[in-house]
Amino acid sequence: MSLTRETFDFVADLVRRRSAIQLEPGKEYLVESRLLPLAREGGHSGVDAYVTSVRTGRREPDLVAVVEALTTNETSWFRDSTPFSALRTHMLPALRAERPVLDRLRVWSAACSTGQEPYSIAMTLAEILGPSTRTEIVATDLSDQVLNQAKEGRYSQLEVNRGLPAPMLVRHFRRSGADWQIAEELRRTITFQRHNLLDAPPLGPFDLVFLRNVLIYFDLATKRAILGRVHRVLRPGGFLVLGAAETTIGVDGDWERVPVARGSVYRPVHGGTAALPTPRTTATAPTFGVSRPAPTFPPATVNQGVSR
Ligand SMILES: C[S@@+](CC[C@H](N)C(=O)[O-])C[C@H]1O[C@@H](n2cnc3c(N)ncnc32)[C@H](O)[C@@H]1O
Repeated sequence: MSLTRETFDFVADLVRRRSAIQLEPGKEYLVESRLLPLAREGGHSGVDAYVTSVRTGRREPDLVAVVEALTTNETSWFRDSTPFSALRTHMLPALRAERPVLDRLRVWSAACSTGQEPYSIAMTLAEILGPSTRTEIVATDLSDQVLNQAKEGRYSQLEVNRGLPAPMLVRHFRRSGADWQIAEELRRTITFQRHNLLDAPPLGPFDLVFLRNVLIYFDLATKRAILGRVHRVLRPGGFLVLGAAETTIGVDGDWERVPVARGSVYRPVHGGTAALPTPRTTATAPTFGVSRPAPTFPPATVNQGVSR
């Protein structure tokens, strides 16, 4: 069974416009396998019939469901380990060295999927920081479906088995039937919000931004525009953490690469930049490239709204 060209083009265009995820020709199998459960659920004979009904009906919940089904939500606890060891050994010591009184630490976990990343950050911070540091983690994703699980903080044994060290399980979870429930003290440090990376970012400033394993789905202009927006909400001296296969190099020159353990993290450069191989060209890209001034921030608050 294969999709008609019309079905694929409609889905690829919808997903690109709403999420920037690129579905190149050749990804028909992916579209079909992701949409088949929705087609069956709606009683359609197949994906073509389902997409035709979405197209003609133009109902917002159906359009959202198609986009959400095409996001890839793969994640795990302490994924790739390096960012979390770098948090202990490099980033927090560097932040402390610059701010001897670290009374407040704000983190943005962007594209957080089902929550394993922000909870892994929260567990790491709970180990290191004492009660004198107030920790606030803003965790965001495009998909309501994954955010609902993240907010609930409930995970199956299979999910827990993917990277969660036993001492962390014992310390931060309790049994709930066949599942595991995250401790309320940890959950309270995280605010989950729906947010599209194509929109204005949550209100900064943040000391740390985790933006991992999502830029890979976007084209160069979109990556550059997103990195520009992250730059604006990251405190000078703060850190950006990307996925193992992602980098700012060749995308946005306003970042300094900092080698850590077996990987890299990035610090924003303010008021002077490295050369870029190509200039910013998109309408959505920020226009303050080379002479971007150091930002001034209003006092941050918890539970800020997200511009959409
Ligand atoms: C592969 S997961 C990465 C999860 C986590 N950051 C990690 O590294 O384990 C990618 C996430 O990006 C989200 N995503 C995709 N496009 C997005 C967009 N335009 N805005 C916000 N989130 C997006 C997806 O919903 C998905 O949950």
